[in-house]
This record gives sequence, structure tokens and C-alpha cells, in this order.
Amino acid sequence: MSIKTIILAAGQGSRMRSKLPKVLHHIAGKSLLEHVCHTSLQLKDNTIFVVYGHGGEQVKGQLPMLKVGWIKQAEQLGTGHAVQQAESEINDEDTVLILYGDVPLLKQKTIENLLTNVSETSLALLTVTLEDPTGYGRIVRNENQHVIKIVEQKDANFEEQKICEGNTGILATQGKNLKNWLSRLGNNNTQNEYYLTDVIEMAVADGMEIKTSQPDSADEVLGINNRQQLSYLERVYQLEAANNLMVEGVTLRDPNRLDIRGTFTKLGEDIEVDVNVIFEGDNSISSNVIIGANTLIRNSVIEENVEILPNSIIDNAVVGKGSRVGPFARLRPQAELAEDVHIGNFVEIKKSSIAMGSKVNHLSYIGDSIIGAGVNIGAGTITCNYDGINKFQTVIEDGAFIGSNTQLVAPITVGKNATIGAGSTLTKNAEENKLTLTRAKQTTIQSWQRPTKN
Ligand code: UD1
Ligand code: CA
Repeated sequence: MSIKTIILAAGQGSRMRSKLPKVLHHIAGKSLLEHVCHTSLQLKDNTIFVVYGHGGEQVKGQLPMLKVGWIKQAEQLGTGHAVQQAESEINDEDTVLILYGDVPLLKQKTIENLLTNVSETSLALLTVTLEDPTGYGRIVRNENQHVIKIVEQKDANFEEQKICEGNTGILATQGKNLKNWLSRLGNNNTQNEYYLTDVIEMAVADGMEIKTSQPDSADEVLGINNRQQLSYLERVYQLEAANNLMVEGVTLRDPNRLDIRGTFTKLGEDIEVDVNVIFEGDNSISSNVIIGANTLIRNSVIEENVEILPNSIIDNAVVGKGSRVGPFARLRPQAELAEDVHIGNFVEIKKSSIAMGSKVNHLSYIGDSIIGAGVNIGAGTITCNYDGINKFQTVIEDGAFIGSNTQLVAPITVGKNATIGAGSTLTKNAEENKLTLTRAKQTTIQSWQRPTKN
């Protein structure tokens, strides 16, 4: 069975009050349209087409990596008209699946379940029973409970408005039939739109059975029209992601105060996550890791027995086994800590490797550096790696001791076991095993007196 998924995404989304097309707004760091595409891509033998319209060039431009065909709907004349634009892509024997680009949390399982209801004699329709179905098309059934048609809210009579079973808009049917019905759609209704929902009545007239299924939760089929709904579904998504982490064995101090905007390539055991932590991109976290409050971890590798203290940022970095980072530390891209490294408060590390057992505990900037094992970097040390135009490298060899408030003007090498006196500004290499310092002599002016007020 070959599937053609048609994702309707041409609507304007004016209630978002945004310059950004609605389907480009994010949930969990990923656009609504990507959520739908990624779910759909899980289906076997499936080709995806996105019907775009409003701000379409922007949508295409921002999501060039999506493996989909793009179909333009120049004027938004209704959901039926939108599907008509994709007609030339539909083969008779295809199963056509209709999804909405602004319904991001629909599950693969729900779609697969829906698809089992498609046959030559049946159309599959996803419906949802709601306490308040206002705005939804209503599913009208006959006395035998067979679906006979869908009426839009605006076209529904008083009795029909009382129906609580709503149309999700998501359906699947055979290509041949669909093309036939699409060719017969009219727009004789209150909105003068070509309603896709009208195919239901035609299908019934053609002797087809309408087989309905429902999602496990109504949240799966909620569409986003405004920013309140966007934030609601963000929380729905996050709470489920948090629950999945706990199932995997992660302790969360508060599942309501965690944000996951990406995936985990690895999750060890006994990971503890304090409140207000954000994970972005692909992260790998090994066992026995403690992550302190208010920490952001992005595209990073955290090895075993690591402790990240609160308020730290770890961005495209590697934290080796047994290391301790923070509080208030910032690891920038290509910061690579080996085993048992300590990075303390107000320390920034960029594009630098730090070998086993080295310590940078206070108020330092280490950039474009190679730091050996067992190095101790005193408070306030700065690698001066940038002359305003070019970047230069600092090398600090094993066992070196850098006194506090030292500036190392790169390119520069501090030799093995060298000691640098506090307060030095080094512009030349420092010899191994020696004490090097640059320091004005301390003097006391005996004759000096404090000024007094005239
Ligand atoms: C539609 C259904 C309604 C269902 C509801 C569920 C029809 C006629 N009505 O109503 O039965 O209960 O969805 O949310 O189908 N779109 C296009 N091109 C268009 C019009 C819409 O691509 O010309 C896209 C929109 O971007 C959106 C989706 O189709 O993703 C649904 O459109 P929308 O205007 O929200 O439909 P509703 O009136 O809410
Ligand atoms: Ca809608």
C-alpha cells in the first residue's frame, strides 16, 4: 500500500497576530509543520505533499530540509480546494491521508489505526468527542449510527449543533474515489468554500462505509489558532516528554519545570534533574549525572558521574567522566573537558580542550586553548586570544600553575610544570619547571600624605 500524505498548511492563521506563518511557530523548539511531517515520515511507503499558501515562500525557505513535495494553493478557497491542488500527485491505487499542518501532536499510532479503516468500500475518518465542540464540523449519524455526512458549525441547524462528535479534519481514503469526489465539490454553503467534508456525503451516496476512529486524547487533534493554544500544547508536549524521561529512569524534581527541545541520543541510569532545566538539540547523558537548577544543555555529551551545578550553560560541549561544572559556568562550542576536570563559577570556556584533573575554578576566560593534565588555573585568568581581527592559540602544558589574575597573550605556550606569578601579563612563552612573572616592583612612598579638604 502506497500512501500519499497531503498536509494542509495554506491557511493564514491571522489569530496568531504574527508576521511568521502559523505553521512556522514552534512547539518544543520545532515548527508545527515539522512535527506533522516527522510523524508522517514514520509511516512506511509514504510520500508527503504540503499545500502551502500564505507566506509560503517563507515556509519553504525555512524548512528546505523537509523531504516533502510543495504544492501551492494561490487562493485559500477551502479545505476541499486545497486538496484539489494536489490531485495530479494522487494515483488511483494510492491511499490518501489528509493531515493539517497546524495540528502538531497527532500520534503515529493514531494514524496507523486510522489507516486500517481504509479499503475499496470504506473511508476512514478521525473524529473526536468534545464537551464543547464549537467551531468543529459535526458528525451526523443515522438511526443505525452510520455516519451520513459532516455539517460545518456555520451550516449546522439547531439539532446538529447539539452533536458533540466533531470532525478532526483528518481522514484517509483511496485515491481513485477521492479524485472523483473532489471533481464534484461545490461551494454552495455559508462560507462559499469548497469543503473537503462534503466528500463524506458523496462517499455515502456511492455506497461507501464511513469507518470512524478516535485518538487516545483530544489533545492529539487540537489545532493551533492562537498563542494560548500554542502554549497549551507546548505544556501537553512537555509533560509527556517529562513522563517518558521518568519512565526511562530519570529523576525529575518537578516534571512541570523542565523543557525538552530535542532528543536524547543516550540516557543513562540515575540521572537527577533539578528544576528549570532546558535540553536542546541532541544530548547524550550518561549514568549518575546530577544537573542543577536553571541549566541549559544543548547538543552536548555529558559522561558518567558528572555534576553540573545550577545556572550553567553547556553548549555543544563535552564534559568528561567525574567532572564538575558550575555554578554559573558557561561551556561554549568545542569546549572539551576530559576526566575529573573542575570548572567553577563565572568561568567561560570556548573551543578549548582541558585534560584530566585540571581546574579552572573562578572567574576566567579560556578560549582557543589546549590545556594539559593537572593544570591549575587561578582566579581571573584570561587567555587573550583575539587581536580584533585574528584568533590565536594558548597552550598550557601538564602540571602548570597559573597564578591569579594572569593574562596570557596568545599565541603563547606555558611549559610543563611552569609556575606563573599572580598578576602577570605574559606575551612570551614561559619555560617549563620555572617561575615566570611580570610584575612592577611594590614600593611604599614614605612621604605621601592623604589629601585633606581645603
Ligand atoms: C475544518 C473542517 C471542520 C473540522 C475542523 C477541525 C472543513 C470544511 N472543515 O474547519 O469540519 O472540524 O477543520 O479543525 O474542512 N487550509 C488550507 N487551505 C484552505 C483552507 C484551509 O490549506 O483553503 C488548511 C488550514 O491551513 C488548516 C486546515 O486546512 O490547516 C483547516 O482549515 P481551517 O480553516 O482551520 O478549517 P476549519 O474551518 O477550522
Ligand atoms: Ca481550524
